[in-house]
Amino acid sequence: MPSRATTIPIAAGSPAIVAEPPTVDLTTTVGGVSLPNPVMCAAGTAGHGAELSAFVDLSRLGAVVVKSLSVDPWPGNPAPRVHPLSTGMINSVGLEGPGLAAWADAELPQLQRAGARVVVSIWGRSIEDYAEAAEALAVLVGRHDQPGAIVALEVNLSCPNLAGKSMFAHDAPAAAQVMAATAVAGLPRWAKLSPNTDRLVQVATACAEAGADAVTLTNTLLGLVIDIETRRPVLGGGGGGVSGPGMGPIAVRAVWDVARALPQLPIIGAGGVCDADSAVQLLMAGASAVQVGTATFADPRAPQRVLDDLTRWCHDHGVTSVAELCGASHR
Ligand code: SIN
Repeated sequence: MPSRATTIPIAAGSPAIVAEPPTVDLTTTVGGVSLPNPVMCAAGTAGHGAELSAFVDLSRLGAVVVKSLSVDPWPGNPAPRVHPLSTGMINSVGLEGPGLAAWADAELPQLQRAGARVVVSIWGRSIEDYAEAAEALAVLVGRHDQPGAIVALEVNLSCPNLAGKSMFAHDAPAAAQVMAATAVAGLPRWAKLSPNTDRLVQVATACAEAGADAVTLTNTLLGLVIDIETRRPVLGGGGGGVSGPGMGPIAVRAVWDVARALPQLPIIGAGGVCDADSAVQLLMAGASAVQVGTATFADPRAPQRVLDDLTRWCHDHGVTSVAELCGASHR
């Protein structure tokens, strides 16, 4: 896109020609979904509804991914559920949620009023749980009072905080079965995967073959913090998921590896996104969009700030379309 030029008068002599920064085309397409820009809120970091709208115009973000929901309400894990780290934080929230129907009545209308493009994240303990959640979503999507509100489904295969449950995202055939079972939702489907495996490419391949339109890379790293005074884990759930800026290189590696192996599979990068640098790295590694997570706990304006930083970075580097960054490190 050509840059416009402005003539500004100067005190003496001829007018100076000053180039205005080029307009940046921020639009992106992720697994069948067109978005106005590539910056989203990550699941679990912006609540279930529109609470961030006190700080951020949700309609300006690419999308809002709501905290993972199941068909039934679930109380989550015992407190404390979050703990700060020098590199970010660790959580064991345990997927607390109101259940899909209550969410659709109470929270979805607020997200709609805020103009958000909503991505619903679902979780389950069994393939049947995921299938039921996907069926419930199909009903919601068909409701006349909520047309077009939900743009995609993110299937959370990688929560580290479900007691006694191993992750679907650590088992390629099981992950594929879940993805196949969620087709009934009738929405573009993104599989949210785990960094806690050396078989990420195999799992991503299995999800893609089972119908995933994109993969979100990645969820949190397994971790545990001990309070040395009490000699007990600081989190009520024991272990938890580590997130934040320290996750950046792990997420970049995950995106890089999957993009290299599966260049046709759209990727959403998540992990340590807190500024233009961390977002651009994920895009260059192969992501078409990024999710801001832990940064939002420290600053609820973080998603908007990352979007503004990214836009400014593109201006400053003569990048006229964010699409040209996607996968740039592989070319
Ligand atoms: C949680 O609610 O425990 C976190 C969800 C996740 O990491 O998937």
